[in-house]
Amino acid sequence: MKRALLVMGNQILPNEMAELEKHFDVIHLWKEKGPETVLQERRNDIVAIASAYYMPVSKTLIEALPNLEIISQFAVGTDNIDLAAAKARGIAVTNTPDVLTDDTADIALSLLLALSRRICESDMFVRVDKWRLNSAMPLGRTLKGKTAGIVGMGRIGQAIAKRCEAFGLKIVYNGKRKKEGVTYRFEPDLQKMAEESDYLILSCPGGAETRHMVHAPILEALGPEGYLINVSRGSVVHEEDLVNALVEKKIAGAGLDVYAIEPNVPEPLIKMDNVVLLPHVGSATIETRGIMGGLVVSNLLAHFRGDPLLTPVQ
Ligand code: GLV
Repeated sequence: MKRALLVMGNQILPNEMAELEKHFDVIHLWKEKGPETVLQERRNDIVAIASAYYMPVSKTLIEALPNLEIISQFAVGTDNIDLAAAKARGIAVTNTPDVLTDDTADIALSLLLALSRRICESDMFVRVDKWRLNSAMPLGRTLKGKTAGIVGMGRIGQAIAKRCEAFGLKIVYNGKRKKEGVTYRFEPDLQKMAEESDYLILSCPGGAETRHMVHAPILEALGPEGYLINVSRGSVVHEEDLVNALVEKKIAGAGLDVYAIEPNVPEPLIKMDNVVLLPHVGSATIETRGIMGGLVVSNLLAHFRGDPLLTPVQ
């Protein structure tokens, strides 16, 4: 008999899903009309979860599944999982690091470029026929010589820095501590870093430690010519402060791939032409999503074979 696997989200691509279905009795929680009832009915069967960053794997859920052995997350970030509750029960947790680093860094640079060179506005300018009507398209901003302040110099932060360097930007970074082997300048004071940054780029993990780290004083320090770019988690930014800073022109603009409560984007942002809004697509390429799904499958199979996990969360 196949083991029961709870699949929480809908991002795993068909090939990898077929692989999961070959090995497991898959419960597609996201397809269920009555997820609570299914969870109640199958609570003793479920030994594994394939989780998604936007679906909480709470202490309550973990405690409701007495035979749960492993949570295999389809994402690098694990702030949706109560890791302490999993650890207390000896439940293994895996994620999908490395494989999405470049795509996520590409999205950060896409936001930076789109904001600075007014790509979305320019596209609209052509579509609504303003170009032919001879109106003037507002000018953008040069990248070369500007400063990118990167919050979180992990794998994704470093990939962003490398790309920023290629565009002639200077790099400074902030994080919990100075990073071994990283030669960019470390600034331990986030407010100071925001002051000297033209682009404040967030690539740190989400969760309690970074919650609302970017709030009104940091945005004020970034200043009326500074842009905020967020490819980490919406929770890192105090969203109301961000909306106010944009309304009051305390910052020049924002490029966002993540939000406090997805998929709800604050209404005032929708109308602003100095923000670029993406629907959390950092890792959303056919190639990367396939590899991520492969890792989810491989980690689950390794666990039930008794082999070492490929990408355990420490
Ligand atoms: C996506 O946000 C991820 O953490 O992989």
